[in-house]
Amino acid sequence: MSGTSSAAAERDDAHVWHPWSPIGPSSGPMIARAEGYRLWDVDGREYIDGVSGAMNCSCGYGRPELIAAVSDQLRALTHVDLSFGAHEPSGRLAERLADLLGHGLTRTFFANSGSEGIEAACRIALNYWSNRSESRRRIVSFERGYHGSTALCQSLSGLPAALPDLPSAVPVTRVALTDEPRALTDPAACDRLLDAWEQALDEPGAGEAAAVVVEPLLNVGGGVVFHPSFLAGLRRLCDERGVLLVIDEVFTGFGRTGAMFGFQHSGIAPDLVVMSKGITSGYVPLSAVTTTDRVYREFAADPVYGGLRYGHTTSGHAAACAVALATLDLIERDELVVNAQDRGTELLHGLRGLAGHAGVADVRGLGLTVVVECSSVDTAARLREEIGRHGVLLRQQMSSLLAVPPLVIDAAGARELVSHVLDALDTAGRHVG
Ligand SMILES: Cc1ncc(COP(=O)(O)O)c(C=O)c1O
Repeated sequence: MSGTSSAAAERDDAHVWHPWSPIGPSSGPMIARAEGYRLWDVDGREYIDGVSGAMNCSCGYGRPELIAAVSDQLRALTHVDLSFGAHEPSGRLAERLADLLGHGLTRTFFANSGSEGIEAACRIALNYWSNRSESRRRIVSFERGYHGSTALCQSLSGLPAALPDLPSAVPVTRVALTDEPRALTDPAACDRLLDAWEQALDEPGAGEAAAVVVEPLLNVGGGVVFHPSFLAGLRRLCDERGVLLVIDEVFTGFGRTGAMFGFQHSGIAPDLVVMSKGITSGYVPLSAVTTTDRVYREFAADPVYGGLRYGHTTSGHAAACAVALATLDLIERDELVVNAQDRGTELLHGLRGLAGHAGVADVRGLGLTVVVECSSVDTAARLREEIGRHGVLLRQQMSSLLAVPPLVIDAAGARELVSHVLDALDTAGRHVG
């Protein structure tokens, strides 16, 4: 663990089981303090946070408005179980999401994590059809998609890290990319991809599809950015077959791509939208699934409750809803979506200086998600370490490095990030390929 000193690292090595990590001591830094878009480790080393914490800290660290929203709410009321009663912040947040999402997406179910949100969205989509007495059970997703770590979420993904160790509860068809990721910003490549989706939806003998679950850009799958015609074409394919379109905005939602939601780049209307991460700027856990009145009303036919048979004790926790409302205030007041677009353009321009560098295969991006695809997973790992030594934390997703700093990063911070990365590549460049 870098940022070592202290008994804290030893304690961590002895007692903490880190998720998605090999057994043994953590190789990442131990962070002690954070402010804005900067972090300090236990030894006082400073970093630019190019990973936004867990890709969720959109408004940056130490925001008094967000801290006050949590503490004020906890003082007034901790929570009310939403299966038993109601509290005001969840209603205010659901109303606000309906306004932001548009397209008749007016009804929100709350959970705690992105995985729970996706699990809920799949259950809603599947039960929508059973409530209508139609036998549609199959879900279609991207092989390189990532939707979380519950058994159902893992069965949607074909990524090696997410490979399920339990049998899938429902049939899933996973669509492979038809071109290299770097080609998919091109409309012709998206047409080829849509052909593959059409075949998957119409797969003989597989049963009718209930729902399609997709991310607007593949985050864990290596920072794969699509031309906007892709989602528009997928919406058309779903409409032709009556399939519900579930958009996973867990990573992309709330400004990350330079629009409030990733699907808005394609001008489409989803049937269900799943949100988490940026909804509270990562200050406390929350996720939301928003759908239409048409989907909601079908649940009156549920044989047990005449409603949804799914939920969690802390679904829509009042403090989480309060901080989400304060997060939305900050995003709007400080025009963070515009800032994400502007800083993202600068970062992309700056990091394009790496194209042609030994070990770098492509540089692409959408909003404040900038992707440096390396020639191999090992090269990406070595470059990420060197970049870390130069004071910038980046996220490795397969052979890609993602720069996804908080949406509050300013022009000076974006320049500093680029300059540290270029310096690190200069240091490492002689040894990678
Ligand atoms: C697109 C996407 N969906 C779902 C998830 C799962 O969210 P969580 O880790 O909060 O369960 C993630 C997490 O990174 C994600 O990026």
